[in-house]
Amino acid sequence: MSSTSRRGFIKDTAAAGVGLLVANRVAAAADVRPATRTSKPLDILILGGTGYVGPYQVRAAIERGHRVTVFNRGRAQADLPNGVTHLRGDRSIEKLDLESLRGKRWDAAIDNAQTDPRWVTQTAQLLKDSVGYYLYVSTTGVYAPYSDPGFITEARMPRLTDNDQGETKTYGVIKALSEIENTKVFGARAINVRPNFIVGPEDPKARFPYWPMRYAAGGEILVPGTPDDHVQFADVRDLTAFMMHLIEQGTTGTFNIAGEDDITMQRFQDALAVAVPSKHALTWIPDVAFLRANRVGTLIPWVAPSRTPDGVRYGQNYINSDKAVAAGLRYRPMTDTMRDTLVWWNRLPDAQRRAYEFGLDAARERAALAAWRGRSGAGR
Ligand SMILES: NC(=O)c1ccc[n+]([C@@H]2O[C@H](COP(=O)([O-])OP(=O)(O)OC[C@H]3O[C@@H](n4cnc5c(N)ncnc54)[C@H](OP(=O)(O)O)[C@@H]3O)[C@@H](O)[C@H]2O)c1
Repeated sequence: MSSTSRRGFIKDTAAAGVGLLVANRVAAAADVRPATRTSKPLDILILGGTGYVGPYQVRAAIERGHRVTVFNRGRAQADLPNGVTHLRGDRSIEKLDLESLRGKRWDAAIDNAQTDPRWVTQTAQLLKDSVGYYLYVSTTGVYAPYSDPGFITEARMPRLTDNDQGETKTYGVIKALSEIENTKVFGARAINVRPNFIVGPEDPKARFPYWPMRYAAGGEILVPGTPDDHVQFADVRDLTAFMMHLIEQGTTGTFNIAGEDDITMQRFQDALAVAVPSKHALTWIPDVAFLRANRVGTLIPWVAPSRTPDGVRYGQNYINSDKAVAAGLRYRPMTDTMRDTLVWWNRLPDAQRRAYEFGLDAARERAALAAWRGRSGAGR
């Protein structure tokens, strides 16, 4: 779908409302690919594996009948299935120790590095003759600052420096350079996946869990932006199932995994109301300057879009993942992600919940809503 026709499609679907939302979700549900044991079990090395995404990679691989080795320093604690092989070492430039990776073979490696492109250079070089495919977990942050209008496809060239001085310290640039290291060493055997916001149960970031939690609390809910602003996100389970699919199929190349590109903020709110029923009322605040002045910033997955002079939106949530979908990526219904995230959240010990600092707390929300009501003409 071209970006022009996609925009038309979004406008039409937004107008069609909740009925279409439900119909689309039912169709999507029928399309979700269950974890299946593959006919040929593979040996998969996961560099990392004990943070957030890593354990889901491990579980996705084991569920599909593969054998898994994780490599890390042994500091992070994760509940990994039995049968996983643990290798210890250190990828840091200062304490580099990759000895435990030598003399072994794997069908594929998954690299979760995000600190320094040299981490990728070192492991890719070491593993190039003992690993079939090298899958690097990159990010759509490679497109930052998302400054060109239109839906972003893989054809858009990432920035490779932060500034004219040639610095390379920002997240997106580190990830783009890491991708290049992978492709330099593994060539046609390199896979680079670029997720946008990764969400779902066990999310360590105080972002997406805000929304199901906020709906559960009910009352007057502040919703930033306008109903037809886009939001994009991918469930960690869909993302990691897709990684396994790429490895199993030997599908290489670079893939955006941003989430569906026709989810508006209105559809997101409609889905929340279905997933987390509560007595609530929405107050939309479209004025971004007002939001900022009242200390309401980005409420992921909502990010204030940029606009062209004629009002067409673009930015971080306008990324196209058609290539990944054509290669087998399937998204579960977003209501499942919302419900499962809330179930996980409700089971967290209080102390752990209190450690999350969300983009908005109850007091600031009340104050912003009161200020919005106090503006002349607002809400009338
Ligand atoms: N969250 C999002 O929304 C999002 C979006 C786009 C992309 N991503 C990308 O997703 C990837 C997955 O991140 P994750 O943190 O969830 O991965 P993870 O693999 O689950 O966790 C990070 C791993 O790195 C290991 N590690 C850290 N320092 C190390 C060192 N010096 N030597 C060896 N191992 C080391 C940690 O174990 P030890 O500490 O025990 O060594 C841990 O196992 C990242 O590349 C991130 O950029 C995330």
